[in-house]
Amino acid sequence: MVVVCALAPPARALDNGLALTPAMGWLHWERFMCNINCDTDPHNCISENLYMQMADMMVKDGWKDAGYEYVCIDDCWPATSRDEQGRLQADPKRFPGGMKKLADYVHSKGLKLGIYADVGTKTCAGYPGSLGYYEVDAKTFADWGVDLLKFDGCYMPKWTLLAEGYINMSRALNSTGRSIFYSCEWPLYEWQYTQPNYTAIRQYCNHWRNYADVYDSWTSVKAILDWTANNQDLIVPAAGPGGWNDPDMLILGNFGLSLDQQVTQMALWAIMAAPLFMSNDLRDIDPKSKALLQNRYVIAINQDPLGKQGRRTAEVKNFEVWERLLSGGKLALAVINRQEIGGPRRFPLTLAMLPSWKFCNPQCNVTQILPSYQDMGTQKLTNMTEVPINPTGTVLLVVTPSAADHKLRKKWFHHKGKVDAIL
Ligand SMILES: *[C@@H]1O[C@H](CO)[C@@H](O)[C@H](O)[C@H]1NC(C)=O
Ligand SMILES: *[C@@H]1O[C@H](CO)[C@@H](O)[C@H](O)[C@H]1NC(C)=O
Ligand SMILES: *[C@@H]1O[C@H](CO)[C@@H](O)[C@H](O)[C@H]1NC(C)=O
Ligand SMILES: *[C@@H]1O[C@H](CO)[C@@H](O)[C@H](O)[C@H]1NC(C)=O
Ligand SMILES: *[C@@H]1O[C@H](CO)[C@@H](O)[C@H](O)[C@H]1NC(C)=O
Repeated sequence: MVVVCALAPPARALDNGLALTPAMGWLHWERFMCNINCDTDPHNCISENLYMQMADMMVKDGWKDAGYEYVCIDDCWPATSRDEQGRLQADPKRFPGGMKKLADYVHSKGLKLGIYADVGTKTCAGYPGSLGYYEVDAKTFADWGVDLLKFDGCYMPKWTLLAEGYINMSRALNSTGRSIFYSCEWPLYEWQYTQPNYTAIRQYCNHWRNYADVYDSWTSVKAILDWTANNQDLIVPAAGPGGWNDPDMLILGNFGLSLDQQVTQMALWAIMAAPLFMSNDLRDIDPKSKALLQNRYVIAINQDPLGKQGRRTAEVKNFEVWERLLSGGKLALAVINRQEIGGPRRFPLTLAMLPSWKFCNPQCNVTQILPSYQDMGTQKLTNMTEVPINPTGTVLLVVTPSAADHKLRKKWFHHKGKVDAIL
């Protein structure tokens, strides 16, 4: 009985057939922001060329094969005013072919196109907002063949209208008859005033931003991890097939993160069952960043069909342990070295350091996924194997309990009652 309760699926998700696992793709914001200077910076400005080139790269360089699917436009794509019929229109100079043609191009590559709009009177960068135009805009996006909408939360006249606006747009998208992935920032904007209702958010959105925008820095990635851990009792139960917490874009391949920090972002985004939207320049990316972003073992953890978001389960000696229950009775385990001085520190795989190590009774198979793939063989409960972890780096492991252990684990679940409190 207790087990059934603890393993019950999360509340009802948005029923548009999408986001059964976290979405994967590319989104322009963190890297390209609101660069509209196509005269002086044609290679990097927000224009149809940028998305066409990214779509080309996604096919050519293995991104699509790795699972990355959505090519997403963020703010600053529209003209500064609506057309005579009140419809949003793309900036005519930067998108001379128009959005329909861009969507056709992206679809011809076997990829999907994402677009951006705002629940309020203006977008965050000051372009026309959708308030009062939800049906018109949803229909426009559907007519163009858009596959995903990122709906921002700036310029809502009253914060109490946020929920209503996000719900109305969700319904407007549904009534177009086209399955359009709905990416919300509803809780992020509500948090300034009240605790968001995650049952409702899950019912209307495919994923949702909770916390500040990611920047190209370790400080930013750390802040996102800390916020997530500090709020995990509230937000983790809301995640599951159909709807996910969105800790914002992957910034691997840019300027601000060391290789160890890139390992940490990749590993933890997998543990958090986070949408994997890269914001980087796929035309010019470091091979090590590329290898991390395309690591099939990490992606498999992120996309695990059980769909349970992981949690931070221990903080010990300036290490952090995060654990995620996977299908097939496996466990993904990330240990971050949060000490930002000195060299690699050794983390022992023992009961004293790892809440989940009791599953390895009498033994389990351990595979290290990051920073490099390594079969660590069969480990016993009493074995004192240590893994070295660089400052700000992470070791990501997959642990498979032996068959006998499976029964023990079940018993332990019964005993503890609340699986979600542990995993
Ligand atoms: C609209 O919502 C209904 C009911 O939840 C669902 O069955 C249908 O598939 C949705 N349609 C689209 C296009 O999302
Ligand atoms: C949402 O839709 C309802 C019903 O049509 C309407 O009364 C309300 O004003 C709308 N709210 C917003 C913020 O669009
Ligand atoms: C949260 O939303 C759900 C679903 O819309 C609703 O049933 C519930 O009453 C809401 N909870 C609160 C505290 O408003
Ligand atoms: C502990 O693990 C190491 C490999 O990591 C292995 O060589 C050793 O045999 C194990 N010891 C026991 C007691 O299982
Ligand atoms: C553990 O690894 C051994 C040796 O590779 C293998 O024979 C065994 O089937 C594995 N057990 C599980 C539960 O995966």
